[in-house]
Amino acid sequence: MKAVSILFTLALSASAVFAASDNIYSSKRLIKTSETEQQWLTEKQIFALIAQRKHFIDITDTQDLQPASHLVALPFPTTLTHQTQVNAAIGKISDVVPKSVLTNFTQFTNRYYNNNNGKTSSTWLLNTIKSTVPGIDVQPFAHRFPQSSIIARIPGTTKPNEIVVISAHQDSINQNNPSSGRAPGADDDGSGTVTILEALRVFVASGYKPARTVEFHWYAGEEGGLLGSADVVKAYQSKQVIGNIQFDMTGYPADPPAVGIVTDYTDATANSLVRSIVTTYTDLPTEDFACGYGCSDHASWNRAGFRSSLPFENQYLDGNENIHTSYDSLDTVDFPHLLKFVNIAVAYAIEVGDAK
Ligand SMILES: *[C@@H]1O[C@H](CO)[C@@H](O)[C@H](O)[C@H]1NC(C)=O
Repeated sequence: MKAVSILFTLALSASAVFAASDNIYSSKRLIKTSETEQQWLTEKQIFALIAQRKHFIDITDTQDLQPASHLVALPFPTTLTHQTQVNAAIGKISDVVPKSVLTNFTQFTNRYYNNNNGKTSSTWLLNTIKSTVPGIDVQPFAHRFPQSSIIARIPGTTKPNEIVVISAHQDSINQNNPSSGRAPGADDDGSGTVTILEALRVFVASGYKPARTVEFHWYAGEEGGLLGSADVVKAYQSKQVIGNIQFDMTGYPADPPAVGIVTDYTDATANSLVRSIVTTYTDLPTEDFACGYGCSDHASWNRAGFRSSLPFENQYLDGNENIHTSYDSLDTVDFPHLLKFVNIAVAYAIEVGDAK
């Protein structure tokens, strides 16, 4: 009996150590569901929010992130000045890489951030970015959960400390079974993932080198309450980030097709430029709508006082009912529509990256 009880004690303490260091959900998380409501919740309670498609922000590890209002005062362009350069770059856009990458990316059972699926899919994406755009600086950004974010960096020529951030999220989730349910995440947010990958590819292929540094970020753990972007923004708090543009769902147009401009938790000045970019560099109109609290990673930048925008695939928040289920599949993605968001991403990189 004694031996057994020692073994039992050892097993217990070993599992306690594993839980404390390896699983973010071994203790409760601080979850905000609005500007004014926050609660410490268990994994089970967080999964219940996900099952109800409630948006939330997990601020447990980023409680010290505060709006630094001086950052918004960094100059931001109000007009488009680089049509020739943007048109040359968008002339190189093709559906070959987006289709091939999204085909394979949707074959992971899911890309859940807190287990090996999300870790494996992240490593695959990192290697795919490296092989699609060879010779550039691409690094994983580790978190306290298994999936890493990914950051690709093109240094600016004359203002390398000023940074423009083009982003999407790489994780996917099945709302009824986050860890093992099927979640191809083709639109949410495989579409944004390949949108910014194709933008990076043609941006580099065009050879145009803006004054500012342009970074492409693929965030981990967005579905867990903007976890990956919050960690990245915390690391960028004191940097001069001129603007962020997030692409979360680009492949599912409504009738009539339009680009939804998210007006809440975004920056009005940056949104004005994004509207000009859409009407100048695509054949789509824009339509404003509110997305709600914590609806995507733009909100992490907004929390820290940076300018952020979210051009969305249509003008309705719940336009695509397939998301967070097994039905968010490759065959539902409208690639010609998705490619228009590549135009927007490339135009933002060049126009904001090189504005005087
Ligand atoms: C996707 O998978 C196929 C089949 O394994 C492979 O031939 C192709 O190169 C892959 N594409 C990418 C972008 O990894």
